[in-house]
Amino acid sequence: MRIVMLGSGRGSNAEAILNAQRAGGLGRARVAAIFSDVPTAGILALGPRFGVPSAFVDPAPFRTKLEGDGERRFVDAVSGAAPDLVVLAGFMRVLKPGFLGAFAGRIINLHPSLLPLFPGLDAIGQALRAGASVTGCTVHYVTAEVDGGPVLGQAAVPIAPGETHDSLAAKVHAAEHVLLPSVIARMSEERPPG
Ligand code: GAR
Repeated sequence: MRIVMLGSGRGSNAEAILNAQRAGGLGRARVAAIFSDVPTAGILALGPRFGVPSAFVDPAPFRTKLEGDGERRFVDAVSGAAPDLVVLAGFMRVLKPGFLGAFAGRIINLHPSLLPLFPGLDAIGQALRAGASVTGCTVHYVTAEVDGGPVLGQAAVPIAPGETHDSLAAKVHAAEHVLLPSVIARMSEERPPG
């Protein structure tokens, strides 16, 4: 199962996936390429470290969504890597029908809450402000409804009294680093060979 990873940030989840692959813990999945919409994103530095092609793809003209010329560039780049599965690992843009249609049913996303709770931006801050005692992370299929596709796996994280944004983010990240590779491994084993 060929995976293409898309991310906008430091790439700690992409790194967890690559470490799982290296340790034999990613089932039949293999990372084929990494792309980012941010030229300085840490996720791009993983490519040379792990021997995987990685590249910036210009997302212009929009700031928070992938549409128009930028969407076409991403569809071309991702198609070129022939993915069976596209993994959004901290990709901070809303996908539109052009990209969703090109990889229909083959895109999954990681989100730092127990969806359907706290969709959208700053899910960790949302959980803290709501006074929740538990939050977590979710891996789900991507559909046109933002953070609304079918859930593939979740992990809960308790919120301690006096928890800060930083301390909770660290706990949620740790849970994500286990959940996302395990969901990918399971999906790769569920797919028929060839
Ligand atoms: C992760 O916490 C992921 O859940 C979140 O971005 C972070 C990326 O961290 N994604 C979203 O909020 C998507 N709406 P990373 O770059 O260290 O993997």
